[in-house]
Amino acid sequence: MTSDKKTIQKNTPQSVYASSFRSHTCGELRKVDLGKRVTLIGWARLIRDHGGTIFIDLCDREGCTQIVFEPNITKNMEIVNQIGREYIIQVHGKVRSRVEGTEDPTWSTGEIEVIAEEVKIISPSKVPPFEIIEEKKRFLPAEEIRLKWKFLDLRRREMIKNLRLRHEIAKEARKFFWSHGFWEIETPYLVRSTPEGAKDFVVPVRALPGTFYSLPQSPQLYKQLLMMAGYDRYFQIARCFRDEDLREDRQPEFTQIDFEMSFVTKEEVMNLIEKLIAHLWGELLGFKQVKFQKLTYEEAIKRYGSDKPDLRFGMEIKDVTNIVKNSNYMIFKNAMKKGHKIKCICAKELFSLGFTAKSAQKYIEYVINILGGKGLTWIIVKEDKLTSIPATIAEAFDEDIQKNLIKEMKAENNDILFFAADIENKALFILGELRKKIAEDFMTEKIKDQWSFVWVFDPPYFERDFEGNVLNKPTHHPFTAPKNMSLEYLQQPKEQIYVDAYDIVINGVEIGGGSIRIHKAELQRQVFRIMGYTDQEIETRFGFLIKAMEYGAPPHGGAAIGLDRLAMIMGRGTNIRDFIAFPKTKSFMSPVDNAPTPLDEDRLQELGLIVLKEYSKERE
Ligand code: AMO
Repeated sequence: MTSDKKTIQKNTPQSVYASSFRSHTCGELRKVDLGKRVTLIGWARLIRDHGGTIFIDLCDREGCTQIVFEPNITKNMEIVNQIGREYIIQVHGKVRSRVEGTEDPTWSTGEIEVIAEEVKIISPSKVPPFEIIEEKKRFLPAEEIRLKWKFLDLRRREMIKNLRLRHEIAKEARKFFWSHGFWEIETPYLVRSTPEGAKDFVVPVRALPGTFYSLPQSPQLYKQLLMMAGYDRYFQIARCFRDEDLREDRQPEFTQIDFEMSFVTKEEVMNLIEKLIAHLWGELLGFKQVKFQKLTYEEAIKRYGSDKPDLRFGMEIKDVTNIVKNSNYMIFKNAMKKGHKIKCICAKELFSLGFTAKSAQKYIEYVINILGGKGLTWIIVKEDKLTSIPATIAEAFDEDIQKNLIKEMKAENNDILFFAADIENKALFILGELRKKIAEDFMTEKIKDQWSFVWVFDPPYFERDFEGNVLNKPTHHPFTAPKNMSLEYLQQPKEQIYVDAYDIVINGVEIGGGSIRIHKAELQRQVFRIMGYTDQEIETRFGFLIKAMEYGAPPHGGAAIGLDRLAMIMGRGTNIRDFIAFPKTKSFMSPVDNAPTPLDEDRLQELGLIVLKEYSKERE
C-alpha cells in the first residue's frame, strides 16, 4: 500500500501534499470529497473503542481526520488493536459523512470521516510523556517539560497555529518588500562586534588562535555598508544574537525583519512600516483599520509614564499638583513642600469591576516593594463626590477641589482615582506601571480584541535617571542621527540632544525600531566621542564604517521589526517561547539538546583557550 501511487492518482485530484505515501493531508478532506478513495498518513490520537468499532483521530501539521475501523469493512482489524498513541499509521479508505449530530465544527474536516479499508503501522511510538490533545482540554504539562520534549510539543495544535502564523508573517513580509523594490541580501553572521546595547556572543577561530568573531546583535553596520555601496533598498529576515538578561519577550537568539533605504526622510520610513503593518494585519488577521497614534518620547512619558505605552485602556496620567495644592491631605502637602508633583490616573468603572480595599492594599505593596515608591492614594468617585477608605482621606479635599479633580480627570460614578506623589519622573513611572497592572488585573476581557498601534519618536540621545540627570547610556545605537545633523547641535548640553529615531509599539510591546542614520564621517566620529569612545577605539572598532562614509555615502535610514515578538503579539500570546520552534530557557539553556556544553580538552587546546577552574565542572 505504501507506494500505491496508481490508486491515489486515479481516484483523487492531485493535492500539493500528495506523495507515494498519501493522497491528502489529514486536514484536507471536505464534503466535496465524499465517496472518494483516499490514503492518509499521520499520527494516531484519541483512540476510542465503541463496542468493536474503533475511532482514531489521525493528525498531521495540517489537521486531523476521524478514521473509523469497522470489523466488517477494515481488512486487517488485528493491526488496529496494536495501534497506540502517536503511532504513525497509513490508512486507505473511503470518505463518508459523519453520522448526523456527531459533526465537529471546530475541525476543518469535521463534517466527514474516513472508513478504513486497510491500515498499516509505519512507525510505532513509545508512550509519550504527555497527551497531545489540548482541544479536549487535557492536562498541559509545565513549560520545562514541553521545552524538553519540544518535538512532541510542536505537534500540539496551538504550537502549529503559532508557527504557521510566524511562517505566514515572514512570507507576507517578503512579498511586501519584494513588491516595494527591496532586495533580499544576507549579511554575515561571523562579524566584528555590533553595539546594540547588549554583550556579544563570541566565536573562537581555530585558524587564528586567540581571535574571536562576534555573532551579530543586528545587521546594522552591514546594512549601512550596503547603502554606501548603492544597494539602496535592502531587507533581510536575519538572525540576531544578544547576550543580555532574558525576559518573557527576549531571547538570546532571535529574528529581525530588517530593512534599510537610502534617500528617504524619517516620515517616509515610518509610512512604509505603517503600510507593512497594515498589510500583515489585513492579510493575516483580516483587520483593516490599522491606525497609528504618534507620540514624541517626552509626550509618551508625560502622558503614560512609559516609552512603550499601551493605549487600549485610557488612564492617561494628569498632573493635579495645582488642583490639590490647597488640600489638607498631609501626604500631598509634605510632598509639595519638597517640590514633588502629584500625578493622577482615573481607572474607569474599576469599583464596579470588583476593586476592593484588599486589592488596594496589594497595589500599595506593589508600589512600595516592587516599584520603589513611597505609597499610593486611591479614591472612589461616587455621585460626583470623592469617597475613601478611611473616609478622612476624601474629607481632606474640600468641595471645590473635589469638583476640579473630577472635572480634570473626567471621572464618573464608580471610577477610581490613583495618586502618586513623588519626584515628577518617579511619579510618572509608578503610575505608568500601575495602569498596566490595573489593565492586566481587571480589563483583560475588555481589551483582548483591541489593538493599540503607537509610534514613539524623537527620543533624547541619553537616558536620564528619575532626578533628570543624564546617564552615560545612549537610548539608541551610535549610528542614529541627531535631530539636527550639524556639528554645532552636538555641542549643546547632552540633555538637549534628541535623535531622529522611532519605535513601533503595539499593545504596549516594542515590536521594532529604527532611525535615520549618520552618513557623515566627522559627525559619526563626534557622536562616538560624546558616547565616550577614544579616538583610538573609534578607529579600531568603527574605522571601516567611517571610511565608507568618506566615499559618497547616501543619506539613509531604516528599521528592524522583531519577528518573534511580532508573531507573539499578532497571535495574542504572552510568551515569546511559544512562537519559536526551539527556544532557549530564561537560564540560557536549550532544553532539547541540553546546550551549551563544555568543550573537550583537545578542542580547547586547538582553539587556544583555557577555562578557569571554577567554570570547568562537567555539566549534567
Ligand atoms: P533594536 O535593538 O531596537 O534595533 O531591535 C529591533 C527589534 O528587535 C527585537 N528584539 C528582540 N526580540 C527578542 N529578543 C531580544 N533579545 C530582542 N532584542 C531586540 C525587538 C526590537 O524592537 N539595528 C537596530 C534597528 C535599526 O535601527 O534599524 C536594532 O536592532 O522587537
